[in-house]
Amino acid sequence: MEIIAQAKEMQRRSEQRRREGMIIAFVPTMGYLHTGHLSLMREGRKRGDVLAISIFVNPTQFGPGEDYGRYPRDLKQDLKLVQGAGVDIVFTPSAQEMYSDGFQTSVDVERVTQNLCGISRPHHFRGVTTVVAKLFNIVKPHLAFFGQKDYQQLITIKQMVEDLNMDIEVIGMPTIREPDGLAMSSRNAYLNSKKRKEVLSLYRSLGKAEELFGQGERSAATILQEVRRIIEQENSVTIDYVKICDARTLEDIDEIKGEAVIAVAVKIGKTRLIDNIILKEE
Ligand code: PAJ
Repeated sequence: MEIIAQAKEMQRRSEQRRREGMIIAFVPTMGYLHTGHLSLMREGRKRGDVLAISIFVNPTQFGPGEDYGRYPRDLKQDLKLVQGAGVDIVFTPSAQEMYSDGFQTSVDVERVTQNLCGISRPHHFRGVTTVVAKLFNIVKPHLAFFGQKDYQQLITIKQMVEDLNMDIEVIGMPTIREPDGLAMSSRNAYLNSKKRKEVLSLYRSLGKAEELFGQGERSAATILQEVRRIIEQENSVTIDYVKICDARTLEDIDEIKGEAVIAVAVKIGKTRLIDNIILKEE
């Protein structure tokens, strides 16, 4: 396994592999890796000849007062994990390597970033698309893997790739959960055992939404009311949003037709967690 910190060196290595006719699979991450990240890597290993990942806590996607400084980091442990996952190349740049003095270009995907997390994190997706565009230019992958856990991020990246004619296949992967249903997230490390139990209401509420949908309920308001009620049973959990949106445009809908996403963001203490499920007619 190679560990590369310089963008130029990473580009050279990828160019070499491409000339050899190899398919490059890529999984971008911010590290503190868990089984969710590893599931993306497993698929990348299957579908690519070379599996590259990045570990970079990207400062520009965190807003003022958010958790950039205290975001969990453990590069040593991460490298151990990815070695076992068959990763060939780990790209781990410094912030200075990615954003040199005088940096002034960004990628903005307009409409699908407006709703959901875009409301309370207004500059977040610009940070994500800019860093992912840079990582794509540095790693030069054929295939890139993203989790549905960050559903709006996945849709935004797909839109960017389409709009900017990037020659990359973006592959969405299912959300991996803890045995009790909590979606795996590096930020779960912030939760003590009491909070950890309380946020299970998130998963329970989505389960209820799925159940109502399965029984034929199509009114977003009716489902959302029930979801809110379940989350609000836990006093310490506050809702940022609970929404049902068109699964492609991410605009709010009143009536579920075709494919929709029900997305939830909550805060418990200082920790912000998100989750979602797709509601789809058979
Ligand atoms: P990070 O939160 O580290 O996530 C890296 C990738 O792992 C993302 O595609 C995310 O959706 C996926 N992932 C996280 N938890 C998952 C789970 N429980 N099941 C399946 N996949 C999961 O997302 C980012 O980093 C950053 O925004 C990044 C894209 C790297 C840009 O900085």
